Amino acid sequence: ISSGNTDRSTRLCRDALCLDDFEMRARRHLPKPLFGYIAGATETNASLRHNAEAFQAYAFRPRVLRDVSRRSTETSLFGKTHAAPFGIAPMGISALMAYRGDIVLAQGADQSGIPMIISGSSLIPLEEIAAVSPQAWFQAYLPGEPDRIDALIDRVAAAGIGTILLTVDTATLPNRENNVRAGFSTPLRPGLRLAWQGISHPRWTTGTFLRTIVRHGIPHFENSYSTRGPPIISSNVTRDFGKRDHLNWSHLERIRKRWAGKLVVKGIMHPEDAARAADTGADGVIVSNHGGRQLDGTASPLQVLPEIAARVGDSIAVMIDGGIRRGTDIMKALALGACFVFVGRPFLYAAAVAGLPGVLRAADILKTELHSNMALLGVTGVNDISTDYITRT
Ligand code: FNR
Repeated sequence: ISSGNTDRSTRLCRDALCLDDFEMRARRHLPKPLFGYIAGATETNASLRHNAEAFQAYAFRPRVLRDVSRRSTETSLFGKTHAAPFGIAPMGISALMAYRGDIVLAQGADQSGIPMIISGSSLIPLEEIAAVSPQAWFQAYLPGEPDRIDALIDRVAAAGIGTILLTVDTATLPNRENNVRAGFSTPLRPGLRLAWQGISHPRWTTGTFLRTIVRHGIPHFENSYSTRGPPIISSNVTRDFGKRDHLNWSHLERIRKRWAGKLVVKGIMHPEDAARAADTGADGVIVSNHGGRQLDGTASPLQVLPEIAARVGDSIAVMIDGGIRRGTDIMKALALGACFVFVGRPFLYAAAVAGLPGVLRAADILKTELHSNMALLGVTGVNDISTDYITRT
């Protein structure tokens, strides 16, 4: 069975020519509620569409007859050198999509020389994931109560993690009606519908679901707060989200005082908020609308990136995520003022359908695209990519 699975992974990886190819395969491989959870957004999916369309609003102005034979995608960020200017965005409950999903993502990132962000909603303890990838960052959802915040910060520091990231675009639960339609909820409620999905997706059921339960027991939310959260499968436990709608800038100040490492704020969409984060001592921001999964109708991060970069780009690291699927998307983001980007869904699809080889293949596709497209644009280093190379369509 194991060699059959390896052959299958190898074949899947060989056949995947771009990141979107993993999505097609994941649609078949995953039970509908789980695929829907990853692919979906909120309400009308307008933010999600904006994210993809935004990249089409810009086009390149390549320069020619330059010697680009010695070019590199290497990028420095927070004193570390990465193989490329992209990393893996934090994604909750990944271990339900792929066997030991977060570990697989962390290993893939580590072996590819890129950073991965551990989700605050992961089903594997942050300490286990950080042990696999010392470069990993941790994304915190804050509980709201000060002593629980302190305990979480101390736990992350004790795990040896150097960068903490605060996601701030989740003041309350969004209306993800697509999840309701697809039968997804946290915790997952066992029932006939779920059982049928399991039967009709046998590779996921045996390779991920049953294997997880047999080897590790029923998964729990392990990182949301300083203590273990509720199990992912239940008929009667409601998820404790803490008091997230109480969060304000004083919480960021509190964390800045307690946390000695790098501090990043994720979910910034307005230059004033970026400036406030910088004034509070943040080392960076991720311009993000959460992959279109929070406020529906939010602008795309790419759209607001130039004004945010103009405001704080000289003082802190301005990063971006949302809709990045190609090396050329990365180049557009860098041209508009980002120094680094993060990619979400495609890496989770790759982990789900092909495990570690899938994550490695996805990273390699993106790196290779970037490397060759940099030559076609006429640049030899990622820092050379500026607004001079693009125009609005
Ligand atoms: C997410 N995202 C997310 N963000 C976060 O800060 N904490 C989290 O736990 C999660 N969980 C999560 C799960 C899944 C399945 C997805 C798809 C996304 C948002 C994520 O970090 C990132 O902002 C977007 O996914 C980026 O957009 P793309 O690359 O998926 O288009």
